[in-house]
Amino acid sequence: MSSTPPKPAVSPLKASTESVTSVHHWTDKLLSFRSTRPAGYQFTPGQFARLGVTVGEEVLWRAYSVTSATSEPELEYFLVQVPGGQFTEHLKSLQPGMPILVEKFSYGFMTADRFVDGEDLWMLATGTGLGPFISILQDPAVWQKFRNLILVHCVRNADELAYQELLTSLPSRPELAAGGARLRLLRSTTRDVQAAAPGNLQGRITALLANGALEAAAGLDITVEKSRIMMCGNPEMITETRELLHQRGLRPCRRAVPGQFVTEDYW
Ligand SMILES: Cc1cc2nc3c(=O)[nH]c(=O)nc-3n(C[C@H](O)[C@H](O)[C@H](O)COP(=O)(O)OP(=O)(O)OC[C@H]3O[C@@H](n4cnc5c(N)ncnc54)[C@H](O)[C@@H]3O)c2cc1C
Ligand SMILES: NC(=O)c1ccc[n+]([C@@H]2O[C@H](COP(=O)([O-])OP(=O)(O)OC[C@H]3O[C@@H](n4cnc5c(N)ncnc54)[C@H](OP(=O)(O)O)[C@@H]3O)[C@@H](O)[C@H]2O)c1
Repeated sequence: MSSTPPKPAVSPLKASTESVTSVHHWTDKLLSFRSTRPAGYQFTPGQFARLGVTVGEEVLWRAYSVTSATSEPELEYFLVQVPGGQFTEHLKSLQPGMPILVEKFSYGFMTADRFVDGEDLWMLATGTGLGPFISILQDPAVWQKFRNLILVHCVRNADELAYQELLTSLPSRPELAAGGARLRLLRSTTRDVQAAAPGNLQGRITALLANGALEAAAGLDITVEKSRIMMCGNPEMITETRELLHQRGLRPCRRAVPGQFVTEDYW
């Protein structure tokens, strides 16, 4: 009697089963983890992967920005544990050795090559929207293409300002320094019970953009000619920031029309 082998839940043409290699907890809600990289996996900094976990009979899929540099042998992701979230609840038990499905293709259009010109690259992130910029800022081509790189990370509380050590060390990497760009790191908190830590801004990105505090802190004006802007994270922040930029004459990049900003909504 012949028995047919069980059909895999996911086509191996679509995704491969990779393995979690390390997990780092930044806070009780924020974590980064690494997985092995599917053979031949290609991505452009700023893109996201689609990850799958098997829960009972079902495979759940979610999008996660890749934070790693393209040259790294593994893939890294930066996540927040959403209370009651189907996928992230499952990741509570995440540990090295656990299997994780990774789709073989990378996705997304929030990449620096969307900009055909510009001098200053502004990267505006709320919460885990920081992730793609960790990858973009490790790309030597970005340090060559722009004169100034300005990262703005806005979180509820200061302990959520992840990746500080990596970020502050970037200008001392020879392959990045060779590009000649200057990096400015602006951090802002919105719910700290005490006053913001010295050097940090206080308030939402939208408020800091509207009242000029971001430009003052960077020492750079946001203009149609010079500024190119990427926004990632909370969709309401993106909608409101878009509106503020529109009022100042900046426009989104479209397929055939060069513009000044690109966005990635996380939900
Ligand atoms: C293109 C893209 C890239 C993404 N990249 C990341 C990433 O790098 N890191 C990451 O943590 N999430 C990312 N997300 C969100 C991620 O795909 C999941 O939605 C999230 O992890 C929650 O999954 P869940 O099943 O637990 O809850 P879901 O049912 O998917 O979400 C429940 C609710 O949680 C909130 N929420 C979801 N994601 C976030 C978030 N990141 N920060 C704050 N609130 C959130 C929203 O209110 C959402 O409606 C991305 C989403 C998209 C579309
Ligand atoms: N981070 C936590 O400690 C915490 C605690 C409990 C639950 N959660 C849950 O975890 C998930 C993720 O939370 P998160 O804090 O990473 O993401 P988030 O809610 O998107 O907040 C990240 C940052 O974005 C700001 N922001 C929110 N809406 C904005 C808007 N319209 N314009 C401009 N800025 C805006 C927030 O400011 P504001 O503070 O002003 O909103 C905060 O500084 C959510 O589902 C949340 O319910 C998080």
